[in-house]
Amino acid sequence: MLSGKTIVLGVCGGIAAYKAAALCSKLTQAGADVRVIMTESAAKFVAPLTFQTLSRNPVAIDTFDEKDPSVVAHIDLADRADLFLIAPATANMIAKIALGLGDDMLSTTALATTAPIFIAPAMNVHMYANPAVQHNMRILAERGVRFVEPGTGQLACGYVGKGRLAEPEQIAEAVAAFFRGGRPLAGKRVLVTAGATVERIDPVRYLTNDSSGKMGYVIAAAAAAMGADVTLITGKATAPLPGGVRTVRVESAAQMLDAVLDRLDGQDIVIKAAAVADYRPAQTFEQKIKKTEEEMTLKLVKNPDILQAIGERKTRQLVIGFAAETHRVEEFALDKLRRKRCDLLVANDVTEPGAGFGIDTNIVRIFDANGLVEALPLMSKREVAERLLALAASRLERERE
Ligand code: CTP
Repeated sequence: MLSGKTIVLGVCGGIAAYKAAALCSKLTQAGADVRVIMTESAAKFVAPLTFQTLSRNPVAIDTFDEKDPSVVAHIDLADRADLFLIAPATANMIAKIALGLGDDMLSTTALATTAPIFIAPAMNVHMYANPAVQHNMRILAERGVRFVEPGTGQLACGYVGKGRLAEPEQIAEAVAAFFRGGRPLAGKRVLVTAGATVERIDPVRYLTNDSSGKMGYVIAAAAAAMGADVTLITGKATAPLPGGVRTVRVESAAQMLDAVLDRLDGQDIVIKAAAVADYRPAQTFEQKIKKTEEEMTLKLVKNPDILQAIGERKTRQLVIGFAAETHRVEEFALDKLRRKRCDLLVANDVTEPGAGFGIDTNIVRIFDANGLVEALPLMSKREVAERLLALAASRLERERE
């Protein structure tokens, strides 16, 4: 199942290091070429010879122990990896990677790799819950690192709680699932915008809207699960950020436009699910506005249309827009699609129960320049995301033929 795949397995110094031996064995048996890097502390728990024997490859520990003069070991390992897996990952290693430190073989190689990174943490329950650790994991998740969550149960330190390394079978399954078929977007780059833009009036006041970011976030998560390399550009949102995607936070429509245009090149699919404010205050006051008059008028000016800007600049990208309407849905949807030069447009009637802001379901119709392509009945936003991405993947495939 994993034959032809090189997996760099980083083992950190925790008691769960002994479980990494079983994991190494499972990955090797599944056909992977497993290259183990141990930290110095890991080597105090388990002998490197164990991993060498199980993987049938040399084990790297010391960055300066260069055995092959024709390559630089940490760069060579970083480049070879199809997947970079750290199991168990200690709080210390998670912090180092979040900060970009490279003071040992494992952290240095992690810095140098461009392969997808999987981290299976293992630590004491209070360490795992520590805000510093949680913060570091969030930073990494926002950069696209995938986590294999620790289990809950008896810990070696005597505590019962969350922090136990996920079982080797479970970690091997997460790795296998990553490489398995059913990944129609493998090798594709997907850019998703989500959430509401925030248009500042003064330092404490702004104009925004009710978008929860849910639809865009589940699209980003579903695209990552389908194998894509995903960048999520998000405005204000209340939905929890998805893991496994690169996240860029922005505030205003102008910032979102810059963030999108900076990253447009090289994308295969661009999905514009954000609720962009059509207008912004003509002036943003640097100081808090004081109340003086009985009435005040706020002058608004038009924001750039981001979707239209993408439509004008697109080369080979498949561009997907959204339209939330209250009436004459098809007519407005087709008009938007043509005006903004998108390839597909997802329209919903927000007056229908089960469609719209802040909820987990949606009812959408997908249009292309020729009219209706698919009408999806009431379903979860996740399912809508999967159907939309499957359609996008098949359109990309069709273009290639
Ligand atoms: N959109 C955008 N930039 C804007 C406004 C909208 O990129 N300044 C995008 C949205 O992300 C969405 C699509 O355009 O994908 C349609 O948004 P909508 O607000 O319905 O479009 P408008 O052109 O603003 O139409 P309306 O007159 O109905 O507000």
